[in-house]
Amino acid sequence: MQKPAGEPEYLSGFGNHFSSEAVKGALPRDQNSPLGCPCGLYAEQISGTSFTTPRKLNQRSWLYRIKPSVTHKPFHPRVPRHERLVSEFNESTSSATPTQLRWKPVDIPESPTDFIDGLYTICGAGSSFIRHGYAIHMYAANKSMSGCAFCNADGDFLVVPQKGRLSITTECGKLVVSPGEIVILPQGFRFSIDLPDGPSRGYVAEIFGEHFQLPDLGPIGANGLAAARDFLVPTAWFEEASHPGYTIVQKFGGGLFTAKQDFSPFNVVAWHGNYVPFKYDLSKFCPFNTVLIDHGDPSINTVLTAPSDKPGVALLDFVIFPPRWLVAEHTFRPPYYHRNCMSEFMGLIYGIYEAKADGFLPGGASLHSCMTPHGPDTKTYEATIAVGENSEPVRLKGTMAFMFESYLIPRVCPWALDCPYLDANYYQCWIGLRSHFSSNNRSENGSPDVPGTTQVLSEDKGDA
Ligand SMILES: [Fe+2]
Repeated sequence: MQKPAGEPEYLSGFGNHFSSEAVKGALPRDQNSPLGCPCGLYAEQISGTSFTTPRKLNQRSWLYRIKPSVTHKPFHPRVPRHERLVSEFNESTSSATPTQLRWKPVDIPESPTDFIDGLYTICGAGSSFIRHGYAIHMYAANKSMSGCAFCNADGDFLVVPQKGRLSITTECGKLVVSPGEIVILPQGFRFSIDLPDGPSRGYVAEIFGEHFQLPDLGPIGANGLAAARDFLVPTAWFEEASHPGYTIVQKFGGGLFTAKQDFSPFNVVAWHGNYVPFKYDLSKFCPFNTVLIDHGDPSINTVLTAPSDKPGVALLDFVIFPPRWLVAEHTFRPPYYHRNCMSEFMGLIYGIYEAKADGFLPGGASLHSCMTPHGPDTKTYEATIAVGENSEPVRLKGTMAFMFESYLIPRVCPWALDCPYLDANYYQCWIGLRSHFSSNNRSENGSPDVPGTTQVLSEDKGDA
């Protein structure tokens, strides 16, 4: 496909069985594990699902590499320890609160900090060992990883850069990911992140025991939302030179372990399979929306979903709020006030979110847990009501907010509750909401809007 300027070559598609070779003829053509692989390479499989997972969900790839991954010294706990990564959410690591939480954007660190050291957990639920749950992290970094690769044995990362591009080398090849794009780094893949723009910040959702899928489209039909062809997969790229002292940093049960080897893990000359890292440009999303009345549920903007074992219930949905037209008539157009059995973590990549006039900033975040009330702030409500019935179609421009939504209730890490970025006055954005109630107000069809009264419509006898 067409290569954007400054970008590596990509393959396109979602869930395809891809093939790529950096040296012509390096990929075995007729079998996965020949006695002697072309070019003297080692064959190595990486399994993202159990061997016996049903075929439609099974994910694995075959990597043909100069030396196999196993060629390394033993793992040891990393020194110094990373104190702020969590994959077991219980009373000893985190706490639950129904309070609405909002964080201001964190500062970029002044001391040299790479992606690994700049990554820290905000909240999550479940356990990476039990293979059920998720963690929500953020990162703030200013330095490329050097002489090391990261490997997450706990789950899949969905990374949402908010500031600064990520130049990611993976075992399948290279990806450049800009703010406004996302990247999936599946469990077990080794990767190294360079920061070509220096100061960098973003969000990460990690899911345990599941992989992201495209949502079903239901009555929307065969097209819309994120199109499979817009997902981009790297092409094979390798380095052959020896790297004495190269370090593999493995996240395992939330802890970091290191192992030394004398070569780069990015020595895969050819590969094929459907278990791959990939990226997606959020501006390619085809949003759907109401065209007459009322505000649709945010699920209409689901980009990717990680299912639970309950139909229609997500372990974690990734939902965006992109630029779009608002056209609904006699409708309160911002998101409605609500309480949700699901829990909602939101971030803002750029612009202003439609439900918050101020206080929710790019790089910041909010968390509204299970059944915690939330909705537009006072300024947004009053401004919307003031426009009244005559509001014209409005195009929301220059904004990209997103939500990680889960049916598992998150527990919050202590450093996220005890940090200067936590907005202690968040609740005040709703305190000014005043009563507009008047028993003399009647809706346009003449029915009284008086709580506690019931009106029987005499013409409506056909429907009990
Ligand atoms: Fe919500």
